[in-house]
Amino acid sequence: MQALHAIPSVEVMATTRGQLDLSDAGAIQRVVREFAPGHIIHAAAFTAVDRCESEEQTAFAINATATAQLVAVASEVGARLTYLSTDYVFDGEKSTPYLETDTPNPQSIYGRSKFAGEQAVGDQGQIVRISWVCGRLGQNMVKTLIRLATSTDGPLYFVDDQHGCPTLVADLVPTLIRLVLEAPFGTYHVTNQGATTWYEFARSVIALAGGDPERVQPIATVELDPPRPAPRPKNSVLENAQLRQMGWPLLPDWQSSVAALVHELTQR
Ligand SMILES: NC(=O)c1ccc[n+]([C@@H]2O[C@H](COP(=O)([O-])OP(=O)(O)OC[C@H]3O[C@@H](n4cnc5c(N)ncnc54)[C@H](OP(=O)(O)O)[C@@H]3O)[C@@H](O)[C@H]2O)c1
Repeated sequence: MQALHAIPSVEVMATTRGQLDLSDAGAIQRVVREFAPGHIIHAAAFTAVDRCESEEQTAFAINATATAQLVAVASEVGARLTYLSTDYVFDGEKSTPYLETDTPNPQSIYGRSKFAGEQAVGDQGQIVRISWVCGRLGQNMVKTLIRLATSTDGPLYFVDDQHGCPTLVADLVPTLIRLVLEAPFGTYHVTNQGATTWYEFARSVIALAGGDPERVQPIATVELDPPRPAPRPKNSVLENAQLRQMGWPLLPDWQSSVAALVHELTQR
């Protein structure tokens, strides 16, 4: 845990969709002008990766157009903007981890719409790419696996040909806040350390949750039945090169942080 006490006191406004619907350009302007923040952390997105394939217009409206509108009004009120983006901006064909300077080549509508959001930010803000996000709140793979560990029998099939880095919200947030407050505009990769596959990840979580990891069986993405509408990058490991270059501490290895999260979620 980094030194949260070093963070100055700030007033935070977190909006619900009801308070600020990103499909409403007028609402974006009104809310930002009224609150006149010093910083905007733009985390909201249309994240249903497979639905994006059939709802392209909505994906681009929320992930790209609304981001451009936020960039414009942020500039008007003098706010710094930090845009959360994704490993899905890469095509996954690289054989080594992706650097912040690598050229995106998104293959899915979700990835293209998020990359369009990155382009709207350009050099007028920060782009923070994260991947395989799990935390205490919201739906995520750790919660799904904990439920599967205890509520079902039989084999569980997970792909072993998609490689990435989990990002634990509890580890991300201190670094994200520090980036917002201290780092220059630019692109940053922020993930936990260590790459894995969904197969290895599932085995770990099932075991941590008291289930039998041998139930987890590896399959290839092409064996998924039914196939997923959106292509996923087979390699989306993000090298945290900018954090290294700045000499900032990297996030811990994913295993210890996932163990802590599983413990927290199963002790309630
Ligand atoms: N999860 C991952 O593995 C992952 C990986 C890489 C990057 N990211 C990025 O991280 C950020 C957070 O992702 P997440 O996984 O936390 O997503 P999430 O659980 O789907 O949350 C997205 C949020 O955006 C809000 N939203 C969607 N459409 C909106 C609209 N029209 N107006 C206002 N709010 C709207 C949603 O509101 P409702 O609750 O009302 O639907 C929800 O609160 C996103 O930018 C995503 O692209 C996530």
